[in-house]
Amino acid sequence: MDTEMMAEESLVQENPKNSNAYSSKNLGVIVECVDNLEFMAKLPSGHFKLIVTSPPYNLGKEYEFRTPLDDYLKQQEKVIAECTRVLHPQGSLCWQVGNYVWKGEIIPLDTVLYPIFRQHQLKLRNRVVWHFGHGLHCTRRLSGRYETINWWTLEDNYTWHLDPIRIPAKYPAKRHFKGPNKGKLSSNPKGKNPSDVWEFPNVKSNHPEKTSHPCQFPVELVERLVLSMTDEGDAILDPYMGVGSSIIAALKHGRVGYGCDIVPEYVAIARQRIKSWEKGELRTRPMGKPIYNPKMPNGGHK
Ligand SMILES: C[S@@+](CC[C@H](N)C(=O)[O-])C[C@H]1O[C@@H](n2cnc3c(N)ncnc32)[C@H](O)[C@@H]1O
Repeated sequence: MDTEMMAEESLVQENPKNSNAYSSKNLGVIVECVDNLEFMAKLPSGHFKLIVTSPPYNLGKEYEFRTPLDDYLKQQEKVIAECTRVLHPQGSLCWQVGNYVWKGEIIPLDTVLYPIFRQHQLKLRNRVVWHFGHGLHCTRRLSGRYETINWWTLEDNYTWHLDPIRIPAKYPAKRHFKGPNKGKLSSNPKGKNPSDVWEFPNVKSNHPEKTSHPCQFPVELVERLVLSMTDEGDAILDPYMGVGSSIIAALKHGRVGYGCDIVPEYVAIARQRIKSWEKGELRTRPMGKPIYNPKMPNGGHK
């Protein structure tokens, strides 16, 4: 570990040797405004139990320039190679992506990124579909309402905990009606596997986590990955951190959060969110909160 990056003295402080670095011993945060390849070059190999990120999709958003798809993939290749280097042998690499769109044609980014991950001997464990209810209304094709989280690991003995992310069973009182377990509860009392289709609201204007960033992912989405793929004290990295949603998810569960972004405004917001979290003032959508249902009283919320 780079000693300068590990210079952590008080609970929350700006690192005096690097005005971009925000580090804290107790919170465990390293956040920098820098290109991710430069950031990762300083990180030790095999360190991160979870690398979770959502890269730019090459759509010409305010934080990116559109480039030919091949150039985009070459750049992604470099970042994925470096992520693989810093990934812990029992770690998980989660790449959250949607579609690249060109002249009305869609190219699901995970399909073109797949060979790159395979080149690095990574194995795909799940392709989680993240479904959300809101977005652009398309006129010449169906409106897109999902993206994917592609979960890769290096080894077969990856860190994995199902219990912390179980969700309530649909019929918890259901019992076996025949066989040796007749009469016993048929479902796990701790809840069921959340499956590979996840529904979380995307961060639009009325979401409690909304900042000025155009494409945040929700903290609860990352929390599910943190809880199932890491242990307390493990290090988590987001190389395209944006406004630090992954860092917040890490901190909420006693993990160490590392992240970088090239846009100073987003890094400033990430730092502000970390400070608000530390004061207990940051609002995040709670895990397990049901999706708003207009047919139910108060939308199904308490
Ligand atoms: C889809 S956004 C990620 C948003 C993030 N998940 C959040 O919740 O805030 C992609 C981010 O990558 C950043 N970015 C683009 N190129 C980068 C690079 N070379 N190094 C670091 N960050 C970069 C952009 O500024 C943008 O904030």
